[in-house]
Amino acid sequence: VDDAGVRHFTLRAGTGTTEIVAGKLTDTWGFNGSILGPTIRAERGESVAFTIDNTLAEPTTVHWHGMHLPARYDGGPHQTIEGGGRWEPAWTISQSASTLWYHPHPHGSTERHVQRGLAGLFLIDDADTRALDIPKTYGVDDVPLIIQDRRFLADGNFDESDPTDIGLLGDTIVTNGISDAYLDVTTGVVRLRILNGSSGRLYNLGFPDDRTFDLIATDGGLLESPIPIKRIQLSPGERAEIVVRVDPGATTTLVSFPIEDGGGVSASDAENFGMNDRFDIIELRGVASRASRSSLPAQLAALPRLDPSKASVSRTFDLQWYMINGQRMDMNRIDFEAEVGATEVWTITNKDNWPHNFHVHDVQFQILDVDGRTPPPHLRGPKDTVYAPPGSRIRVALQWSEYTDPTFPYMFHCHLLMHEDQGMMGQFLVL
Ligand code: C2O
Ligand code: CU
Ligand code: CU
Repeated sequence: VDDAGVRHFTLRAGTGTTEIVAGKLTDTWGFNGSILGPTIRAERGESVAFTIDNTLAEPTTVHWHGMHLPARYDGGPHQTIEGGGRWEPAWTISQSASTLWYHPHPHGSTERHVQRGLAGLFLIDDADTRALDIPKTYGVDDVPLIIQDRRFLADGNFDESDPTDIGLLGDTIVTNGISDAYLDVTTGVVRLRILNGSSGRLYNLGFPDDRTFDLIATDGGLLESPIPIKRIQLSPGERAEIVVRVDPGATTTLVSFPIEDGGGVSASDAENFGMNDRFDIIELRGVASRASRSSLPAQLAALPRLDPSKASVSRTFDLQWYMINGQRMDMNRIDFEAEVGATEVWTITNKDNWPHNFHVHDVQFQILDVDGRTPPPHLRGPKDTVYAPPGSRIRVALQWSEYTDPTFPYMFHCHLLMHEDQGMMGQFLVL
């Protein structure tokens, strides 16, 4: 932190070698290391400044997924950092405590860059959340999990061949950059900040004994109150924070179960898209307890709702054939201009029989309904990415604030990275 109170960070995108699977070496990419990147942490109200060096032999970008910030620092496809180049974005954090993440967004190459290891978490803190009696000691009872799937060649390198229609699918789960991950839980209860950092795979997370755990936060921060659940499903880019009890002496495993309803696709596609797979994500080993916590606060956050009846604009987004509204991404086409301060209602329809999801830059949206019905409790918190099963129609409310820019756009897109690379993306200005 400098004299002016600005918190400085340095990131360096580069190549390396990582032992992801014991006994095998894989060529990987990472920020400040061989794979993934440091967890960045900043406080609401704080100014942050980054020096980002790209030591790769090709251009990349660094996008702050979930962050409310000026478009020119968003790190989308317009903020290219050439190989050997540097980028220095800076902004003031102005959103609630949450688990965001950062990853490359170079047009047409996002899947490859993320797949090779470029991704990290960006945690935002705020005073209200710090005052809550919830697990919050990073690395002890507040543990990040970046879940990804990879396939390996015999020589240990990533197999980037044979993508499915939802992108590269792996047969090996890599959690925080390693396979066969485990965690010693020393506190009886642990908070897991989970990111689906995969290209195309969905996860349906829970425990083999079907124990109940508490969902406390989604993409953009805390829920109003903890939701006791047995499964939480995440599509690529989505986050969830859960709190689970692991008693000393007991061991359990966070597992990804087959996706509910096969993800809504045909039986053969469900098979091709890994919807029926079951994987161990991380083993949780309860060891001698330091302290134990019995319950979570009944109230976590106040979530003011946008009033859809006051929306001045409604827009529709039809997802079909690698396109949104019949068009593929064009770096030179602005799809619409939005007005700062306006509340908008967006209707997102998956007109395909393939899975898609939908992500918007710069805002957290509120899901109004799913197929005309009140969203389930886990979709009532702040979201920036939502799964859209085949045939589904999702209405969300959102509001632009603070930042306008007549030149640089924000993106909306399917976050299945191969679909995004194929052009299921568009861009808009906030004026
Ligand atoms: Cu996480 Cu536009 O992406
Ligand atoms: Cu994003
Ligand atoms: Cu898609």
